[in-house]
Amino acid sequence: MGRINALLVTGGAGFIGSAVCRHLVQQGYRVINVDKLTYAADLRSLQEVEGSERYSFHQADICDGAAMARILAEEQPDAIMHLAAETHVDRSIDGPAVFVETNVIGTVTLLQAALDYWRGLDGERRDAFRFHHVSTDEVFGDLPLDQGVFTEETPYAPSSPYSASKASSDHFVRAWHETYGLPIVLSNCSNNYGPYHFPEKLIPLVVLNALEGQELPVYGQGINVRDWLYVDDHARALELVATTGKNGESYAIGGRSERNNLSVVESICDALDSKVPLPDGRSRRELIRFVTDRPGHDRRYAIDPSKIERELGWRAEQTFESGLAATIDWYLANEWWWRPIREQRYAGKRLGGAS
Ligand code: NAD
Ligand code: TYD
Repeated sequence: MGRINALLVTGGAGFIGSAVCRHLVQQGYRVINVDKLTYAADLRSLQEVEGSERYSFHQADICDGAAMARILAEEQPDAIMHLAAETHVDRSIDGPAVFVETNVIGTVTLLQAALDYWRGLDGERRDAFRFHHVSTDEVFGDLPLDQGVFTEETPYAPSSPYSASKASSDHFVRAWHETYGLPIVLSNCSNNYGPYHFPEKLIPLVVLNALEGQELPVYGQGINVRDWLYVDDHARALELVATTGKNGESYAIGGRSERNNLSVVESICDALDSKVPLPDGRSRRELIRFVTDRPGHDRRYAIDPSKIERELGWRAEQTFESGLAATIDWYLANEWWWRPIREQRYAGKRLGGAS
């Protein structure tokens, strides 16, 4: 640990944010979690760290500039890791406004509060400060199935309201760097999966539906490809980017684990069949249903992570097979976490305009 000891994490009650908070506290950093607690948040994901003296939580909206300024002044972080966002593509198709509100206006509001705060820091702390914007590979848009990869140089071409809002926020972060000199780092990561993942996204949705013997919705023909990264590998990468990344640079993060959706769903079926067979002995693959495709569905995402591997010494530790097995075991062992979410917040109904 160097000059960055205290990190303010926005969106720390979400899937990746909570993994980042757990990881950073475990590494010895002081962590200030700022989260509005939307439908996607769950403070139970932070049980491992909530008793730590190095962890604190503020319920606040990143669109509230006065609240952001107050928390920054009070907590005096050395860096900000900005993860708070609306994140589900299908929800962005049904209701794009909140994506613009949080992902664009919220990011600009936070940037302005960060700039005022950074300008008030003295010499060494001012030099070490970073605003780390956590973004997605979806800003680069649609790759053909059989060629091409995303790098830090790939032009932006977002397809969905979600990815357009994230692309916009990336541009604002760079603008605050170029125009006002705010020290920033950016990272664009591929699809994450792992423990505490809200069961609206493909992997946790399919694990839980399959466990309960319910239908497994595969959009279109299941040929779309995503590049999967285990969430704890992402959390380690984010620590490195925030604390050692070069001012003004961006880093593409991915696990070199491309899979098409049908093969992901089939792997989950087979793993669950061997761990917890259905009572009638049927194969869970029989539960797969090909349903109407997502509008604007990007065919393929794929990351070339050479830069972060080379420059920051990061490597994904999990393969897709080991990470998926760990994820399935976690859902089997942690019904206390997902059962109330499925019963009270989101039962798995189709989202995204094609229902
Ligand atoms: P998530 O939906 O699980 O969590 C988002 C968190 O942000 C929630 O806790 C929510 O309460 C909070 N939040 C939302 N609006 C807020 C607001 N206005 N003010 C304060 N907090 C607010 O998301 P996630 O999957 O953990 O993603 C975190 C970040 O990583 C996002 O910026 C996302 O774009 C990016 N990302 C995600 C993936 C992925 O595969 N999930 C991949 C690459 C990048
Ligand atoms: P998702 O987890 O929503 O992540 P993203 O859209 O950000 O990549 O979806 C991953 C892939 O799985 C994507 O190609 C859409 C597809 N998908 C299904 O086939 N069925 C589903 O029920 C869901 C939620 C997603």
